[in-house]
Amino acid sequence: MILVTGVSGALGGLILDGLSALDDLEVVAGTRSSDGTTARRVDFDEPATLAEGFQGVDVLVFVSAGYAEDDVVLARHGAVADAAASAGVRHVIYTSLAGSGDLMTIALPHRWTETRLAAAPFDVTILRNGLYAEGVPVDLAAQSAGPAAETGVFTAALGAGRVSVVARQDLADVAVRVAAETQRDLTADGSSRHSHKTYELEGVTAIGGVDIAEALANGLGRPVEYRTLSLSETRTALDGSPLEPYQITHTLSLFANTNAGLLEAHASDLPTLLPTAPRPIHDLIVKAVEAASR
Ligand SMILES: NC(=O)c1ccc[n+]([C@@H]2O[C@H](COP(=O)([O-])OP(=O)(O)OC[C@H]3O[C@@H](n4cnc5c(N)ncnc54)[C@H](OP(=O)(O)O)[C@@H]3O)[C@@H](O)[C@H]2O)c1
Repeated sequence: MILVTGVSGALGGLILDGLSALDDLEVVAGTRSSDGTTARRVDFDEPATLAEGFQGVDVLVFVSAGYAEDDVVLARHGAVADAAASAGVRHVIYTSLAGSGDLMTIALPHRWTETRLAAAPFDVTILRNGLYAEGVPVDLAAQSAGPAAETGVFTAALGAGRVSVVARQDLADVAVRVAAETQRDLTADGSSRHSHKTYELEGVTAIGGVDIAEALANGLGRPVEYRTLSLSETRTALDGSPLEPYQITHTLSLFANTNAGLLEAHASDLPTLLPTAPRPIHDLIVKAVEAASR
């Protein structure tokens, strides 16, 4: 049996949908908000739900729950590792962060979790997910559609850097493949071809400020010029936003890493793990701009 955590979230939901479409597998949903009938209650902040929720599970698709301060995330992820070991889970597939993000602030809990899982008694596969296309490029473009339509200018603290991004659905497709093959391998001969593997699922398309301006221009039907903001200007703007303090830290870190050119990846396991080419990113951005400007 496969259990997927965080199924009300975007990634967990897509993984659950993909696995549920495969007739030969028993798949169970895990979520904090379960009514106990269609899904199991799995809340990393409440270890008692994990002891019960992981019963009978062979393969756990452990979707990171990173929206919190680091100490909270470490406690959550440590609780998952402990509970999976106690419940006799045979294989854990963890959705981590791609190597290009090593110096981002969000890397700390991911790398800690990878180490914690490696010391556990079950087999592990690490899916080092690239940054979502639906994050920086799509969100930034959608949020900027109104101002860019008016001023013809797109501003963001990306400097001259680019971010390699991947469609969330591609990451879900890889997780589905790895989880399905692992469950089938365990049933057939007890070990998985994906055991002890770390897959770098970096995006194969890098997007920078000029690319977002170009997508805005296409979506809006008018010229749009990119101008970078400084990190200091961005910090001031974010300080007045409704974001949580830890989100401001992570956002500035993302921009700083982009400025430093660190988020442009040069190799990826994504194309070999997907059945077809990775989804095109520019289309996603232009569609988001069109939707935002309707
Ligand atoms: N690669 C990237 O660019 C990127 C960007 C942002 C975040 N991430 C990471 O990837 C994860 C999945 O991304 P996403 O797009 O699916 O995020 P999302 O749509 O915000 O979903 C996150 C899900 O995490 C689950 N969760 C939160 N707290 C939890 C807890 N205490 N115990 C168990 N589950 C908990 C929730 O699902 P339930 O309510 O169903 O339990 C929530 O819906 C995020 O949580 C974050 O760690 C990656």
